[in-house]
Amino acid sequence: MITRAPAPEGHPFDEVLSGWLFREAETRAVEADSFQNPGMLEVERAAEIWSTPEGTAGKSCETCHGDVSESMKGVGAHYPKWDKDANRPINIELQIDKCRTEQMGAEPYKFDAKDQKAMTALIKNQSLGEPMSVDLSQGDMQSWWDRGKDTYYTRTGQLNLSCSNCHEDSMGNMIRADHLSQGQVNGFPTYRLKQSALVSLHNRFRGCIRDTRAEFPKAFSDELMALEVYVTWRGTGLSVETPAVRQ
Ligand code: HEC
Ligand code: HEC
Repeated sequence: MITRAPAPEGHPFDEVLSGWLFREAETRAVEADSFQNPGMLEVERAAEIWSTPEGTAGKSCETCHGDVSESMKGVGAHYPKWDKDANRPINIELQIDKCRTEQMGAEPYKFDAKDQKAMTALIKNQSLGEPMSVDLSQGDMQSWWDRGKDTYYTRTGQLNLSCSNCHEDSMGNMIRADHLSQGQVNGFPTYRLKQSALVSLHNRFRGCIRDTRAEFPKAFSDELMALEVYVTWRGTGLSVETPAVRQ
């Protein structure tokens, strides 16, 4: 597992650090042991959904993609990706919905449906240990990166805080009971012990924005997709840890 990596050029830090390094020893141990990691139960459940036909075409994911551990190996480490059809970046959640609607004749998942989080975790888990990177040369990715960066450094809410005020300026400090990390995305969807459930990345983004007492944007909105592109880049070189375990 690569939990620290040299930062890419133009990054505010010299080194990028996984959130894993900031958690208690006990939480880290639960994450690292796939038999103890409760998120793995959801990954296993999604493996069943993978081979279950759904929708009017009578197809399952397996019908087209075969064995998930082969076809999806390394895929999740390189999202968001540019999507030519949509003319915007898409993440794993949106790619799954694209296959469901266009290939299977099934409904897209509702945001944060249990199966959406489980299926996303299944796909990301096939990249466990692989270093993350995003290809900014595709399509218009660079301008989405720029927009995400703007959001990252803009103060919002009654508390007038930006992402960078907490995850850059105060990284390593305690905020209430929490040890502030760099706010990396490499463990998502993440298993929260407090909630006994997987938590999606856009849910986490919205939670962090809500904590500044600001209005929070919709999941998969342009604003949050741009943020996902930018924040994923900030974790370049860290390996995928999905499902990470957090308090
Ligand atoms: C009828 C065939 C078909 C079915 C069924 C199907 N897909 Fe796909 N899938 C494709 C095709 C074709 C692509 C590549 C083009 C695109 O992006 O749509 C793809 C691409 C993908 C990718 C991106 C791969 C990459 O290298 O970036 C993922 C992830 C994915 N599918 C997941 C799923 C999941 C999960 C299911 C079941 C819910 C599913 N697919 C069902 C045909 C299918
Ligand atoms: C008021 C401080 C604060 C602000 C502002 C804030 N966060 Fe967070 N964030 C936290 C805390 C506390 C946690 C949980 C502990 C940790 O991992 O740092 C967290 C966790 C995260 C995580 C999960 C990290 C992991 O390893 O599990 C991500 C991703 C994240 N934040 C992204 C963001 C983004 C993007 C923004 C701006 C939209 C933002 N945060 C704004 C306090 C903040």
